[in-house]
Amino acid sequence: MDPRDTAVLLPPASDDRVTDGFFDCAEESAHYAFGVQLLLTQYASLVPWEREGVAELGSGDARAIAHVVRAVPALRVHGTDISGSSVARARETIEGVGVADRYTVEHGDFFAWADSAGGERVSTVIANPPYLPAPDGELLMPELWGGWYGNDLALRLLKAGFDHLLVALPSYSDPAGTLAVAAEQGFRVANFLAMGLEFGVYSREPKVREHISRLTAEGRGWAGEDEYVVAVALLTRSPELRRDRAVELLRALQLPV
Ligand SMILES: C[S@@+](CC[C@H](N)C(=O)[O-])C[C@H]1O[C@@H](n2cnc3c(N)ncnc32)[C@H](O)[C@@H]1O
Repeated sequence: MDPRDTAVLLPPASDDRVTDGFFDCAEESAHYAFGVQLLLTQYASLVPWEREGVAELGSGDARAIAHVVRAVPALRVHGTDISGSSVARARETIEGVGVADRYTVEHGDFFAWADSAGGERVSTVIANPPYLPAPDGELLMPELWGGWYGNDLALRLLKAGFDHLLVALPSYSDPAGTLAVAAEQGFRVANFLAMGLEFGVYSREPKVREHISRLTAEGRGWAGEDEYVVAVALLTRSPELRRDRAVELLRALQLPV
């Protein structure tokens, strides 16, 4: 397909409230969707998604990626989500968008699925993973907890045996630490789309916000008064990649290099 055929529509803005049981942040999900569509199509020669399909960690209510699947006819996605109410919503979304033949979502832990998929595994994962840093997971939506630094799930993905990750990396969840592990695991940064976001209802929760202030003061990330930056980045082990943009990515996330 011609990558200029970008047909991802912006969803209506989220209300500033916690929606019962599933992740709801229209701006963040739209950025994830745009990033996935552009980077997959632009790097189709490096990333074998047309042949293998892709796996998704945390499909949420599927509004983000259902529209990408509709816009990109060769794309097949197998999603998982650990939240039962998200999976119920995701299945409704997928039916409504008319892509049930190419986008399935199952209920469960992504890593359990990845371990059990064995030889049939795909080599590409897409994810807007849980990335809230907090001392513990007692949060407005516990499924969004990313551990002390917020990057636990990104680090697990890097070590899960996939060769290509299209993953959202927020500036406040120790992205330099994540990229250091990525480099150790043989990944380089092919490209990324970065966008500034205001703190939403989940990162504004006092326990999360105070923790973010602590981490950023220690130099483990960046956040402004009520804003941060997220980059949807393509990390790949492909030997054919010619340029590593890790330094540019850290700069876009406002981190010193
Ligand atoms: C930030 S939300 C992203 C949702 C959706 N992809 C989007 O961008 O709109 C992260 C999602 O990951 C799910 N999740 C958390 N831990 C998971 C795990 N171990 N396996 C699968 N899904 C998980 C959460 O329930 C949540 O729906």
